[in-house]
Amino acid sequence: MTDYASLERQLAALLDTRDWLTNAAQTSAFLMQALDDLNWVGFYLQRQPETLILGPFQGLPACNPIPFSKGVCGAAARSRQTQRVDDVHAVPDHIACDAASRSELVVPIVVGEHLWGVLDIDSPLPARFSREDQAGIERLCRVFGAASDLANSPAT
Ligand code: SME
Repeated sequence: MTDYASLERQLAALLDTRDWLTNAAQTSAFLMQALDDLNWVGFYLQRQPETLILGPFQGLPACNPIPFSKGVCGAAARSRQTQRVDDVHAVPDHIACDAASRSELVVPIVVGEHLWGVLDIDSPLPARFSREDQAGIERLCRVFGAASDLANSPAT
């Protein structure tokens, strides 16, 4: 079992600036190292009109831009609910950036009333992300949000 409380402390200590770009880069690199069996971790940032653009990430070059109307990331942006997908092949409009991906977790990052962006995590293993992983990664996203001056980032 992943010790998410320990990861929260480590991430909070790592994010020693208010700068969202630095913190997003550090967070994606940290998660790629800290969690097993991932092939992609990164941020998509909200842009008008209802579009996600690629932000700091770890992994293969990825799809960009993503409209809110498409894919697992789009569903997270539209609904502002975390999307936990055990089998991406079962999602008709899943956007396959890396053919190795089999399961996916996308967490929306909301600042006040505003969707700032999403954190997207892909795994080559089916059903990689449990409910406990979802809760732990949502907490890590809150650490990122609390550490960063998202209200004054270009994504808002
Ligand atoms: N699979 C995502 C697209 C982003 S990549 O996984 C990096 C989706 O369906 O929205």
